[in-house]
Amino acid sequence: MRIWLWMWWSLNDSAVTEAAVYRGSMPGQADNTDDAQRICCAYGMGRETHYKAGKAAGIGMGAFVTFEKVNKIYRTGEVEIQALHNVNFEIEEGEFCVIVGASGAGKTTILNILGGMDSLTGGCVVLDGQEVSAYNKKQLTDYRRYDIGFVFQFYNLVQNLIALENVELEAQICKEPLDAAQVLWEVGLQDRMGNFPARLSGGKQQRVAIARVLAKNPKLLLCDEPTGALDYNTGKSVLKLLQDTCRQKGRTVVVITHNQALTAMADRIITVKNGTVVSMVKNEHIVDIQDIEW
Ligand SMILES: Nc1ncnc2c1ncn2[C@@H]1O[C@H](COP(=O)(O)OP(=O)(O)OP(=O)(O)O)[C@@H](O)[C@H]1O
Ligand SMILES: [Mg+2]
Repeated sequence: MRIWLWMWWSLNDSAVTEAAVYRGSMPGQADNTDDAQRICCAYGMGRETHYKAGKAAGIGMGAFVTFEKVNKIYRTGEVEIQALHNVNFEIEEGEFCVIVGASGAGKTTILNILGGMDSLTGGCVVLDGQEVSAYNKKQLTDYRRYDIGFVFQFYNLVQNLIALENVELEAQICKEPLDAAQVLWEVGLQDRMGNFPARLSGGKQQRVAIARVLAKNPKLLLCDEPTGALDYNTGKSVLKLLQDTCRQKGRTVVVITHNQALTAMADRIITVKNGTVVSMVKNEHIVDIQDIEW
């Protein structure tokens, strides 16, 4: 059987072969994704092949983002803090995903690992078929530069550059940036492009920060408590902008929050507790942010 497989494999793209394993149309038939993974590993197929094959077969390893048994231990001298323990989840392309949990649950650690800003102690992270957790330093730099757009709680704008220049600055380091003025227009700041951050309200500064990452044209938007510094109504309008960005532009957006009410607006809700994922649900009754009260 192995010889037969080897011949098949030599003649075909390995992803196609693996898709066939998934579908059960070749020797080593898999009844479920665990079986398929075991068989494919036995024949030395890599994770990227897994991803493409899963996608082709419409099951299993085809998710856009995969966290698999991710562990993170922070060591300070003699002290060890296990921030993440066997974290598993998946996010599909184009989804609006909310990661929710109490303070200290591990939300920021997850986001930083997904964004290539922190290393993991064990496990595997895959984005769009690429094993991010296996990247070297140079690859991680490129990954943060081209693939990821980060939105922080406190905006992190350059104070001595006007809104337009803040967006242009980010666009300059990317491969296929969008037009800075156009993106600012799209987030409703057409009249404020010439303002320095200090002249803008918190909500407008956060809009500039969102425009800045949108201009990068990234694969994934990661937002760590993006409304944490904003009042109720301004926070809602920023969340609406993120929700519209996901719905209208097809962007994959991940928002972390400790506010349980916000989960109602998500396609996927990942709940984190004590450093591990305690539930992951697809939301069947998505509510528009305008209709959520808390
Ligand atoms: N650099 C670090 N060094 C040591 N421990 C850390 C570090 N970063 C995070 N931790 C610890 O890891 C755990 C998870 O922290 P994390 O910041 O991910 O939580 P969080 O869910 O984002 O919390 P919050 O809602 O307060 O932002 C906490 O116990 C925290 O003290
Ligand atoms: Mg945090």
